[in-house]
Amino acid sequence: MIHNLPQKSQSFWLDSTPEPNYPNLTQNLSVDVAIVGGGLVGISAAKLLKQAGKTVAVLEAEQVGSGVSGHTTAKISSLHQLIYADLIEQIGEEKARLYGESNQAAIEQYASIIESEQIDCDFQRKDSYTFASSINQLDKIKAEYEAAVQLGLPASFVQETGLPFDIAGAVKFTNQAQFHPRKYILHLAKTINGDGSYIFEQTRIKTVEGEQPCKVIAENGCIVTAQDVIIATHLPILDQGLFFAKAYPKRSYLIGAWIDPAKDPQGMFIGVGQDYHSVRTTPHEGKTLLLIGGKGHKVGEVDDTEVLYKQLSDYAYSTFGVDEIAYRWSTQDMVSFDKLPYIGKLTPLNNHTYVATGFSLWGMSKSMMSAMILSDLILGKENPWANLYDATRPTPFVSQESIKQNLDVGIHWVGDRFKNLLDSSEKVGVGEGKVVTENGEKIGAYRDESGTLHKVSAVCSHLGCIVSWNPAEKSWDCPCHGARYNCQGEVIQAPAVSDLKKY
Ligand SMILES: Cc1cc2nc3c(=O)[nH]c(=O)nc-3n(C[C@H](O)[C@H](O)[C@H](O)COP(=O)(O)OP(=O)(O)OC[C@H]3O[C@@H](n4cnc5c(N)ncnc54)[C@H](O)[C@@H]3O)c2cc1C
Ligand code: FES
Repeated sequence: MIHNLPQKSQSFWLDSTPEPNYPNLTQNLSVDVAIVGGGLVGISAAKLLKQAGKTVAVLEAEQVGSGVSGHTTAKISSLHQLIYADLIEQIGEEKARLYGESNQAAIEQYASIIESEQIDCDFQRKDSYTFASSINQLDKIKAEYEAAVQLGLPASFVQETGLPFDIAGAVKFTNQAQFHPRKYILHLAKTINGDGSYIFEQTRIKTVEGEQPCKVIAENGCIVTAQDVIIATHLPILDQGLFFAKAYPKRSYLIGAWIDPAKDPQGMFIGVGQDYHSVRTTPHEGKTLLLIGGKGHKVGEVDDTEVLYKQLSDYAYSTFGVDEIAYRWSTQDMVSFDKLPYIGKLTPLNNHTYVATGFSLWGMSKSMMSAMILSDLILGKENPWANLYDATRPTPFVSQESIKQNLDVGIHWVGDRFKNLLDSSEKVGVGEGKVVTENGEKIGAYRDESGTLHKVSAVCSHLGCIVSWNPAEKSWDCPCHGARYNCQGEVIQAPAVSDLKKY
């Protein structure tokens, strides 16, 4: 069945909040801690550090809260689909317990900040469910429930939920939470700016040099000097820690539809298996918006991304009987090969440069957890979870998953150079983008609605893979480590820091 989808990809979180308007960095300055990236990690860390008496500068390439954190589903939960049974097997009960405890603590940290700062961000306590649609998925649900109980988490096994369809069973965590991430970020940003601390927008950082002190260098040449630096750019823009080889980028899709509040399933839900869906609602001006997510895939590896929105909307019509899809958008997260995020020093040789990445699509609790760990490390305090997530830990380069993903990168790097050898930019239709070969060079050609052809180099400015066209978002996406560029070739997602060369 064909349903109408909104023409433009637009996040509800961004559409329902005003645009912030912080200045860009135009002169050198000095602070205690420079924070590169104004998403949930950057803003939460800045808040905790300023509260502890440090001066901070948040340096954001675009607008605060406009990255992944402005496009998420924003369930703040320690129930991460299926994780605890695997963690107990992989790292043992003690560490799995720390994982649960740290994510639970992050939920409470949100609650405490939101209450003490009186932040109006639709924060609501909700139960979180991972459900099996069919009986053959039930064993995994039961194993997850048993593992969670063993670890002391607030878990129960249920067969009734508020969902409008039957399920085989679900593991339920009580007293989790959800919120409006952009309202939260905008409010906190206001409290960070001032008294020797700063928020800068439209300030892309190119690199960081040295450590005593750290010199954070912006695209326009301005330098922020700081004792410590947090790289909170989602995937770090600095390559030294090889995080691009320890995690892979997964893109996923969301649609939003207004529903009758009486049909609100009253919870946060996620399925299991290959084709799972994620469900929650959010209040807005007396109305209820249903959000449904899913259809995840590795960045740059699906040609027809538009069809994925259609499949999500079919699901919304058939399961919730919605009338109309009001929003559609997509975003991506870095999936860590050993299921644990990387939070801590950039490399064993760094003592003042920190990172937080690899949240595996559960970055609400993990970004707050990162803020707690990194602020403790910078303030010289013990943190009970820092070792578990140590970003310099030996990584599973030899695990099946990491070998496969890094092999895929090699295949893309070489193989994509031999694709589309005979295509020409003249054949690119209106609204279409295509990688073509001209004079032996790989060119990304996009023809806009007025018929003008825009040509950029298709060679990613990060490590040289060939980008691919994403028709649903009208962007050039790199299949290797997830850098993205708009249709004009301007960088919109790290790890890249430079635009694609224009022709
Ligand atoms: C579809 C989807 C749904 C999700 N739903 C959930 C959920 O329900 N619950 C959950 O827990 N997690 C969820 N996640 C994961 C979560 O959204 C992310 O892990 C989290 O938002 C990442 O936050 P961040 O601060 O690391 O990144 P971001 O929010 O992307 O912040 C990074 C910032 O750095 C800036 N930046 C980049 N490069 C530079 C540079 N060179 N100079 C300056 N600034 C720069 C960017 O512009 C950006 O604003 C979801 C992920 C996806 C993909
Ligand atoms: S993101 Fe690394 S090569 Fe493109």
